[in-house]
Order: sequence, then structure tokens, then C-alpha cells
Amino acid sequence: MSLICEPILPNFGAVCSGLDLTQPLSPEEVTQVTDAMDRYGVTVWRNTGMNDEQHVEFSRNFGYLERVPKRPDGQKMRLSCRELFDASNLNLEGEITRDPAAIEYRKGDRLWHTDSAFLEKRTSYSILLAHEVPPPGAGGETWFADARTAYDDLPQETKDRIEDLVGVNSLWWSRKQAGADVAEEEIYERPMARHRIVHTHAGSGRKSLFIAAHTMDIEGMDKAEGRQLIADLIAHVTQPKYTFSHNWQVGDLVIWDNLATMHRGGDYDYNAHKRDMRRTTVREGTEPHLMETGDDPYTALFARSPRSVDINAARDAGR
Ligand SMILES: [Fe+2]
Repeated sequence: MSLICEPILPNFGAVCSGLDLTQPLSPEEVTQVTDAMDRYGVTVWRNTGMNDEQHVEFSRNFGYLERVPKRPDGQKMRLSCRELFDASNLNLEGEITRDPAAIEYRKGDRLWHTDSAFLEKRTSYSILLAHEVPPPGAGGETWFADARTAYDDLPQETKDRIEDLVGVNSLWWSRKQAGADVAEEEIYERPMARHRIVHTHAGSGRKSLFIAAHTMDIEGMDKAEGRQLIADLIAHVTQPKYTFSHNWQVGDLVIWDNLATMHRGGDYDYNAHKRDMRRTTVREGTEPHLMETGDDPYTALFARSPRSVDINAARDAGR
């Protein structure tokens, strides 16, 4: 079978079918998927029937998979392997978490962002599979924004102004924006990643903005001016004409290219509904056969400085 793509917006997002993602893909099929991703930025695959293992194996077609940080105390994880990021609202027992620190930590996901922009090595694809979702009409959707078309539509004057600017990105900045109690001075002492805010998307050759909730400052620019520019660009990219939302059903898989998009989670009643989402995360520019080892930036990041809301520490402190 060959791939069928039905566009969601004229230039952005497509519902794809025609491939069995539970089975190994041929090189031609992998090319079909990457071509669709280069064109649409987000692809939606309904009712895939995938399990954890198939999710990880499918994801390996697109490069090196980031691994979740090791727990320093050797505490067990809810999910079976470190290539699966737990994007759920569940605790280790699979029940809705009541841990206020865990809940607060997730709030940052409701802001427009790109996954892992706070790391030096950027993420290309995020590949999210729905295992359990809130009932229809109860929210929990994911929104996507088209950073390439939005860039194309900027006035030339703005393009000239931002062409060579570099954004300074921090995980803790986005958490602070979402209400976490962390001082700005403290954020500056923690790891940050510098990325140009305009870049050429390798697969399509189109220029795109790379800026979102993790972007704290513009290098060399007055702080207030830089933050206003960041806010203005996010507001530009996230206009309704550049966005759509995906309402999840169990078995849905969505792939988005963080180097051409922004995304955010939609609201839902966190205390009432389970939302079990699991994500693999592909590192930019890595070939499938390059299985890197001994390079674990997530663990390194969290080892060097704790999260502003450290779930384990909060639990130990009896919060
Ligand atoms: Fe995300």
C-alpha cells in the first residue's frame, strides 16, 4: 500500500493512512513518511493499533531517540523503556496523580512550545501515541501552529530584523511562565541553550521560526525589547489561520516536526480524566543507523540542576 495524505490546512497538517505502522517499514515507506512530514509539518495517523514496542521501533526509522532522565535513586518508572517519555497525568501505579508538584510541572505544556528547545541538540520529530484519553468533548486536545508559513508571511522588514538573532532557551523559563516559583536569577544560573530564531528547515528548504515558551531572551538585545519580540512572534505564529487542533482517540499517533511547528496541550479536567500519552523524541540530524551511546543530555541537564519543581524532592518534603 502507499501513503495517502489528506491535508488539514492548505499548507499544514495532514491525516495520513495507507501504511501499517505496527510492521517494519521499507526504506521507500520511510521516505514517504519523511516527505509527508517535510511538506505538512504534522501528520496524524488514526487507529494505529500500536503498542509501546512498535511505537519505539517505528520511531527509530527517523533517528536517534532521546531517553528520559535516569532517576538518581533508581526508582522504577511507569513505562517500560527510557525511549518513552511519559506525558500522562498518571502516577507509577497508573492512577491520576494527586502530586501538586507533578501537576504544576505539566502546566508548562499548555503554553505554545517546541519540545526540547532548551537542549543544545534540538529535537526534530516528536511522536506521540494515545493510550487513554478524556471522553469526547472533555478537552485534552493538542494544538499545532505552522512556523514556516507564518515566517513566509512576515513583513520583509521584520525578516531583515530577526534574520541573525539568537534566542536563549531554558526549560525553567517556560515553567516560570506557567506559574512555577523560580527566580529569574536562578534561571540564569541553570543550563540554557542558544538557537537562532530563524533557520532553514533542512527537509523542505523553507525558512522557519524557532521560538516559543522556552525562549527567554534574545542574545545581545535589551531584555524587555527581546521579550516583547518573542511574545510578538509567538502571537504571530499562533494566529488561528496557522493553527489546528487534534482531538485524540485511543490508538492515534501524531508526528510533529519541532523545527517547523509549535504546539501546546489543550485544557481538560486533570483530576477527573486519565490522559495517558507516550512520546518518543527524535534528535535532529541523526541517521537511523547512528545509534549513539554514552550521550544523554536529559540526564546531564537534570543532574546539573534540579527542575524548578522537582517531583521527587517535593514528594520527599511531604508536599
Ligand atoms: Fe510538548
